[in-house]
Amino acid sequence: MGNTISKLSKENFFNYSVVSKFALVTVLWGIVGMSVGVILAAELAFPDLFAGIPWLSYGRLRPLHTNAVIFAFGGSALFAASYYVVQRTCQTRLFSDALAEFTFWGWQIVIIAAAITLPLGLTTSKEYAELEWPIDILITVVWVAYAIVFFGTIMKRKTKHIYVANWFFGAYILTIAMLHIVNNLEIPAGMWKSYSVYSGVQDAMIQWWYGHNAVGFFLTTSFLGMMYYFIPKQAERPIYSYRLSIVHFWALNFLYMWAGPHHLQYTSLPDWTQSLGMVFSIILLAPSWGGMINGIMTLSGAWHKLRTDPILKFMVVALSFYGMSTFEGSMMSIKTVNSLSHYTDWVIGHVHSGSLGWVAMISIGSLYYMIPRLVGEKEMYSKRLIEIHFWIATIGVVIYIAAMWIAGVMQGLMWRSFEADGTLTYSFVESVKANFPFYVIRLFGGFCYLVGMLIMAYNVFKTVYNKKIISPEIPSIQHTSSDIAPVVNGSNDSAVLNSNKA
Ligand code: HEM
Ligand code: HEM
Ligand SMILES: [Fe+2]
Repeated sequence: MGNTISKLSKENFFNYSVVSKFALVTVLWGIVGMSVGVILAAELAFPDLFAGIPWLSYGRLRPLHTNAVIFAFGGSALFAASYYVVQRTCQTRLFSDALAEFTFWGWQIVIIAAAITLPLGLTTSKEYAELEWPIDILITVVWVAYAIVFFGTIMKRKTKHIYVANWFFGAYILTIAMLHIVNNLEIPAGMWKSYSVYSGVQDAMIQWWYGHNAVGFFLTTSFLGMMYYFIPKQAERPIYSYRLSIVHFWALNFLYMWAGPHHLQYTSLPDWTQSLGMVFSIILLAPSWGGMINGIMTLSGAWHKLRTDPILKFMVVALSFYGMSTFEGSMMSIKTVNSLSHYTDWVIGHVHSGSLGWVAMISIGSLYYMIPRLVGEKEMYSKRLIEIHFWIATIGVVIYIAAMWIAGVMQGLMWRSFEADGTLTYSFVESVKANFPFYVIRLFGGFCYLVGMLIMAYNVFKTVYNKKIISPEIPSIQHTSSDIAPVVNGSNDSAVLNSNKA
């Protein structure tokens, strides 16, 4: 009898319901955010496209794009992945269904509020923190609930050990709370207007401490958490080195915090601060590549799978872009390089090799792994469509960033070119005209990437249509003598993930 009762208890099952909701809206917000990106790319090539319609103007749509892709698409992907991973690796149900449900609806309201206020021109004007104070407060409340659900689940875990992916998710949740609150301290002046408590160069430094670490934690540490679960699972190989994962975890988190001034080179920020940002950015390459190497080496031994498994292809290309964009970032932090690259489209190319190449690719791979499992299937509806998606996305991002590299270096060189008598060789507008072909090429690359997302949406629809969400039973645990290798009956999760003790 006791057995029957415990069988019926919700506690014996994972909560896949909230994971499914987040996973599905990720695809939706990806399409919305990238469509706005394509519109922006078109506006840069053809500035008169929507002349006279204020809410479609470039200045209003640009923050809509960044908020939609980072916080709606990336954020929803991270909620889905972290809720899935923390349950699976802790072998327990989420700490609170109600709070988890609240984070879903709360986050969607934040997104919709952003989608209304930004095109209306309501903005604090701080990049990546444009939303006005009432929305900031809602974000804070949702984030605290998220932290309670996540860390509460860790606390009630059935496994002894906290799997490394959770370290990365945990660091991201804590750091984003701190960044969001400190950077958004502001004094309201009406419902949709506020003034930052900071001013002048301090404001700039706080803003880029935030902006840079938003990249470091919202777009990097968090997605490394994703990598540390989904790559070993899809490759069916343990992590290459557990020790490396711990070393690069601490090094990455410590170093990221100090590199923000590389966004303010050659400004009125004190010179020593700029140099400090440069030095930390160069050292940051080591733990960044530590993470990439750990991911890529996990795939070694699964190379034969790479030929036939398009999900693994997404993952290995994501890691390659992660390695490439961090190398590029460290180089761009060097003051002499930054004097060429700053304010040019090179930065935009760097941003999108990080975001389209790394963030979106690792998310797409993880979703293709997760989505069928949420409805009790093993695979997506069509592997062939995943393969097509992979190629069109890869070609799209390569076209995008190659166009921006050429445009960026060209702009930088044109701006610094002088005649013998000290006058500028080119007027600014000549550099804008020279950019036109590259803006058209970028538009094409971005459009390819968007088409890939539409293919994904169709594949996801066919996979989940008419199916119920299946929250499977949590397998029972047998601890082995080893600290870090709990063997789990009925699920190879921890067994695969932890069988390498190095
Ligand atoms: C189809 C895909 C995409 C297209 C066509 C696209 C296009 C664009 C364009 C045209 C801009 C403005 C560039 C400028 O001001 O010169 C931009 C900015 C930006 N995009 Fe995207 N984007 C796409 C996807 C993404 C994704 C998935 C992410 C993040 C996960 C992202 C993150 C950003 C960021 C952070 C900026 C601001 C960059 C800066 O200020 O330096 N984009 N995007
Ligand atoms: C070791 C790692 C990295 C370093 C040292 C680094 C460094 C830099 C530098 C020097 C800039 C240009 C600042 C300027 O001249 O305006 C920059 C811009 C940027 N990077 Fe990175 N980067 C790294 C990794 C990444 C990754 C992985 C992503 C995305 C996932 C990313 C996203 C961005 C964004 C969004 C900007 C533009 C910010 C803005 O002006 O709006 N970075 N980064
Ligand atoms: Fe940065």
